Amino acid sequence: MAFLGSAASPEQFPAGGLPEVAFLGRSNVGKSSLLNALVGVKNLARVSAQPGRTRLLNFFRVGSDMVLADLPGYGYAKVPEAMRRGWEKLVTSYLVGRGPLALCVFLVDARHPPTEGDETLRSYLDHQGLPYVVAATKVDKLGRGEAARRREGLVRGLGRSARSVVAVSSVTRTGIDELWSTIRAAVGPGR
Ligand code: GTP
Ligand code: MG
Repeated sequence: MAFLGSAASPEQFPAGGLPEVAFLGRSNVGKSSLLNALVGVKNLARVSAQPGRTRLLNFFRVGSDMVLADLPGYGYAKVPEAMRRGWEKLVTSYLVGRGPLALCVFLVDARHPPTEGDETLRSYLDHQGLPYVVAATKVDKLGRGEAARRREGLVRGLGRSARSVVAVSSVTRTGIDELWSTIRAAVGPGR
């Protein structure tokens, strides 16, 4: 696992070679934490106590197999409009132009209904025909029955066009193996 660098503009995206998996979702949903849980390294992708901290795209190489991209979150109210538009431009320039992009991991908070920003991202991904898996985060905060019900709601709703909907927790590692399987299937040979 190696940190490849951060990008504030498309010229700074690393030369693409390996298949890439992008982590997307609103600010504070748990993108960096999930990335850390997946690779089993603490604090490699910086976890923010304050929302809205990951302002750049951060790229990590996993072995010689794939690259994981931690994308800046949306929906953080305190962000000035001009800056929000800048991020949007950066993220969309990545999503539309990134050849090696094999899969998006679209994170939503399992505890709450999808936000307007989540719906906007969903329609954008569908419109662009980008493959994605929905990861319902922080399920450690829900009881088992409630977590299953929330997941079902996502299967019928926001995640209806997703490859799968996986309930995850970066704290208890629930769903981490299942998510890995989905990622491997997307980047692996014969994809
Ligand atoms: P930005 O980079 O600001 O967009 O946030 P992010 O999506 O990367 O979220 P991050 O991983 O920084 O986590 C935000 C907060 O949620 C932190 O306080 C984490 O400790 C907490 N958190 C993340 N994942 C989980 C989880 O699975 N369970 C619980 N209980 N808390 C979590
Ligand atoms: Mg982050």
